[in-house]
Amino acid sequence: MSNPRDRIGASKGNLDTPCLVIDLDLLERNIRTMQEHLTSFGKKLRPHAKTHKCSIIARKQMEAGAMGICVAKVSEAEVLVKAGLRGVLITSPVVTDQKIIRLMECLFRDPDLMVVVDNPTNARMLNEAARKQGSRLSVLVDLDPGMGRTGVPFREGLALGQWIESLPGLRLRGIQCYAGHAQHIVSFEERREFSWGWMKQAAEVFRQFQAHKLPAEIFTGSGTGTSEIDCRVPEVTDLQVGSYTLMDTEYLHIGSSDDPRKFEKFPPSMTLLTTVISTNRREFFTVDAGLKALYHHGPGPSVKQPEGLEMRYDWAGDEHGKIFLADSGKKFEIGQVLELVVSHCDPTVNLFDFFYVTRKGMVVDVWPIDLRGKCQ
Ligand SMILES: Cc1ncc(COP(=O)(O)O)c(C=O)c1O
Repeated sequence: MSNPRDRIGASKGNLDTPCLVIDLDLLERNIRTMQEHLTSFGKKLRPHAKTHKCSIIARKQMEAGAMGICVAKVSEAEVLVKAGLRGVLITSPVVTDQKIIRLMECLFRDPDLMVVVDNPTNARMLNEAARKQGSRLSVLVDLDPGMGRTGVPFREGLALGQWIESLPGLRLRGIQCYAGHAQHIVSFEERREFSWGWMKQAAEVFRQFQAHKLPAEIFTGSGTGTSEIDCRVPEVTDLQVGSYTLMDTEYLHIGSSDDPRKFEKFPPSMTLLTTVISTNRREFFTVDAGLKALYHHGPGPSVKQPEGLEMRYDWAGDEHGKIFLADSGKKFEIGQVLELVVSHCDPTVNLFDFFYVTRKGMVVDVWPIDLRGKCQ
C-alpha cells in the first residue's frame, strides 16, 4: 500500500478516493474566529475533540488560545495525554473499575485532567481510586438540561457538589451543562430562548455553589449551534464547541444571528472526495462513497465541486452513492472527482484514518485521525 504522505505536493484532484480533505486556511480561520468571538465576550474556549478526533488539530486549538480540551471517552483522553496535551476534560461519566484504572493512568500523566460526575456512588469510587494513587482528581457536577442523557436534575446539583467536596481524593471545580438538544434548532430565536432557559437554570446552581462556599471556578457547556447565545450568560466560564472546526451540512442549514436561513460564520473546512465509477444509468451517476465513507445523518451531503450544477447525493448502500443532476442534458464521465460537504462531521471523521491537509488545492500534509475508533 502506498504511503499517504507520498501525496504531499499533489493536487487534491489527483487523490485516491473516497478520502477526507482539510482546507488548512479555512480550518485556521475557523479556529481563530471562534477564539476571537469568545474572547470578545470574556469567555474561554475548551473545544471538544470528539469532532475532529485529531491530536494535531487539538494542539492547534490550544496554541490559538484554548484553555483545555474536551473528549467524550477515556480512550480519547489516553491518546491526547500521551500526545502531551494537558487540561483534558472527559465530558461523560466514567463509572466502571476498568475505566477508572485507565482514568487514573491518564491523571498520572495529566494532573489537570477532569471528569464529570452525575452520581454519588461514582464520586465515591473515583475518590477511592484517586486516594489509592495519592492523587487528587478534578471533577465537575454534570447537570441535565432536560435531555436525559447524563447529568443530575438541577435541584440535585448542590447536594452532589457538597458530597464531592467532602471527599478528599476529589477536587470540585464547578459544573457542566451541555444542551445538545438545543444545538440544531433551526430558528435562531427559538434556539436562543430554549438554550437560555436551560443555561439560566444551570447558572442558578452555579450561584448556589458560590452561596454555599463550594468551589465554582468552572461553568462549562455549549456547542457550535449555541456559541453565539451561551456566551451571553454571565456565569458561563467556557464553551465546549466542537463542530465549528470542520462543519457539516447539518449545521450549515440552521439559522444564525446574521441570517435566518443559514449559518455561515464557520465555512466547512473539511470535504470528502468521491469518484464517479459508473455512468450507465440515465437518472443518476454512481460514486464510490457510501455508508462506510459518509455517515448517514442529517440533511444529506451537499456537492461543493463541480460548482454551478444543481445536483444531489443520495446513499446507495455500504460502498456507493448516487448523484442526481437536475439538468438531464449534463453528463459526468467515469473518473470524475466530486467534492462533498458531509452531513455530520463527527461520525464521518471516525470512518477514516487520516486527513489530507491542503492549501490552495495542493496537499501540504497528512494528519492521522488518531482518536479514530476510540469509543471506549
Ligand atoms: C458534551 C458535549 N460538549 C460539546 C459538544 C460539541 O458540540 P458541537 O459539535 O455542536 O459544537 C458535544 C457534541 O456532541 C458534546 O456532547
